[in-house]
Amino acid sequence: MRMVDIIIRKREGHELSDEEIRFFVDGYAHDRIPDYQASAFAMAVLFKGMTKREIATMTDAMEHSGEVVDLSAIEGVKVDKHSTGGVGDKTSLVLGPMVAACGAKLAKMSGRGLGHTGGTLDKLESIPDMSISKTKEGLIDQVNEIGIAIIGQTASLVPADKKLYALRDVTGTVESIPLIASSVMSKKLASGTDAILLDVTVGDGAFMKNMDQARELARTMVDIGNHLNRNTVAVLSNMDEPLGFAVGNALEVKEAIASLHGNGPEDLMELCYTSGSIMLVQAKVAKDREEARKMLQKSIEDGSAFEKLCLMVKAQGGNVNYILHPEKFEVSKNIIEIRSEEEGYIEGIRALEIGESAMRLGAGRERLEDSIDMSAGLVLNKKVGDFVKKGDLLVTAYTNKEPEEYEPVIKDILHAYSIVQHKIPKLPVIREIID
Ligand code: URA
Repeated sequence: MRMVDIIIRKREGHELSDEEIRFFVDGYAHDRIPDYQASAFAMAVLFKGMTKREIATMTDAMEHSGEVVDLSAIEGVKVDKHSTGGVGDKTSLVLGPMVAACGAKLAKMSGRGLGHTGGTLDKLESIPDMSISKTKEGLIDQVNEIGIAIIGQTASLVPADKKLYALRDVTGTVESIPLIASSVMSKKLASGTDAILLDVTVGDGAFMKNMDQARELARTMVDIGNHLNRNTVAVLSNMDEPLGFAVGNALEVKEAIASLHGNGPEDLMELCYTSGSIMLVQAKVAKDREEARKMLQKSIEDGSAFEKLCLMVKAQGGNVNYILHPEKFEVSKNIIEIRSEEEGYIEGIRALEIGESAMRLGAGRERLEDSIDMSAGLVLNKKVGDFVKKGDLLVTAYTNKEPEEYEPVIKDILHAYSIVQHKIPKLPVIREIID
């Protein structure tokens, strides 16, 4: 078998055999197939797509390209969640402690941020001394003891995805439904969870720009999960504006802490309640979604969800003082207030531009090896549907960069807002649920 023939067959729109797909995944994971052929293959898949069978085989081959974790030593149903990526998406930091406080078991293996989307691991690492690595035994003990752990994927978990995702990121081949579905589901299947809640983001700041694409991606992943006996449900959530107000690592952790104290932004909390109520039913700790929602609300009101975050930070070596006193987090040396130049209703806040701007202020990385500034980012003061007067505060920017670097970014942030004269409704965060 030759890789060039497989590329040509996909380029011509043919359905590949299981052997051909496994030849590619195995060969690429073990460095027998070079990056240039893998990129041509990814581009052919992006243009020609894959059938359900091809996607299932691709997922299975990727899952088994490395270690498959056995979490059966954790008592009860293990639930996990995965977001396809967004701007200001600190959901796991709020939702994880909430579901754990209600009795679900969450052993979550997360990734880092790349491009305009942030990663949960980077956010967690803004907590001083927080460790995101654990042995398998350490992970199992922690989840058995406190119900929650959020750690990094080890190098041995789905190595094919690590290589392929990094390659896709620099070859314009991320936005492919078969490639996203196999990337996400192979990682979830290999990480040993019993049930999966997928947050499929849709809109300007997401990989899926419209509902048709998001539905197709969600349906593809839900079918793969259920076919392999993992109870899988997808929530389609809005990414036409950033989620919540904060964008940037420590800023998002602070927003997550406030949310667990009952002061969370409406959209973020609604996403946590909707996703969490599905997860509690999947975990079999609630009989239906209504009962689950009440349990989740109680976990915020009685402080038990906040307590879970403290326990998790402590169990992973982090300095809990920062969680108890978030004013301790370092603040950037430059704080710039961006004010509206006109009066009217906010029609849109382009999430992609906001995510990219936060990254340029230091909050994200362009390449995996780049380091990030934990204190940098943005805090929005207004969201879609809000009325603003000329001179009202739209956003506060935080950065340690010099003025010649940040000034063009400030202009772009202002341009990410569109203001109109007629009333604009608020954007609903939950667009659809697919199960
Ligand atoms: N998230 C992933 O894990 N993989 C993708 O391909 C896209 C988003």
